[in-house]
Amino acid sequence: MQRPLIIALDFPSLQEVNNFLVNFKDESLYVKVGMELFYQEGPAIIHALKEQGHSIFLDLKLHDIPNTVKSAMKGLAKLGVDLTNLHCAGGSLMMEAALEGLDQGTAVGTKRPSLIGVTQLTSTSEKMMNEQLLIERPLNDVVVHYGRLAKRSGLEGVVCSSLEVPILRESLGEDFMTITPGIRLASDEKGDQTRIVTPEYARELGSTGIVVGRSITKAKDPLIAYHDIKKSWEGVIV
Ligand code: C5P
Repeated sequence: MQRPLIIALDFPSLQEVNNFLVNFKDESLYVKVGMELFYQEGPAIIHALKEQGHSIFLDLKLHDIPNTVKSAMKGLAKLGVDLTNLHCAGGSLMMEAALEGLDQGTAVGTKRPSLIGVTQLTSTSEKMMNEQLLIERPLNDVVVHYGRLAKRSGLEGVVCSSLEVPILRESLGEDFMTITPGIRLASDEKGDQTRIVTPEYARELGSTGIVVGRSITKAKDPLIAYHDIKKSWEGVIV
């Protein structure tokens, strides 16, 4: 994987996705399909996006008993997505089972989807984690612990906040992917995210890839927003 800028297609229907993608006629994109879109359109949305030549991160954040996750992952691998994920909170047996499922579902001669784990959602604050989830450790310790568990279980990386990338790199090395949502331009609304950074700062912190939703999808001109963010992410001085 290069260092992708992944656009979160948080739309309710294929029709709205197509209305959005009209802005990007000549671009080959890396897009993220999450629960909202997949639960409405199902596998057809993946086939449609693949036909248009886009790379796909299928972000369904699986979290269930190991056997169920294994079977689900087997099915997801058959869709031919590039990247998918689960919640590390499901534990190492679940993560290992997920990898087995992906291996089983990957067609001979094709590449297995990469698998990454969510450490803590970027909408989770330390206060919320301590008070509501009763995880009484500092957020950074929890993120690093989940990252280690993911790596030991065979996963290729994690989804995390860019702010956590330096401490993850320290213990998990340079090759472990860190895909980071919670990206905003300085001028953007924060929305429901709490641990946010700019694309430029995400690059400085060492993120492998960034996920950007509303800053592009809700922009007045999504193509201009995409290129502005891409330049900032790639460190192009304008
Ligand atoms: O609109 P925004 O840029 O906040 O969208 C971020 C996207 O990344 C959403 O699709 C959200 O589900 C996803 N995500 C996240 N935090 C995580 C994992 C995924 O925000 N830890």
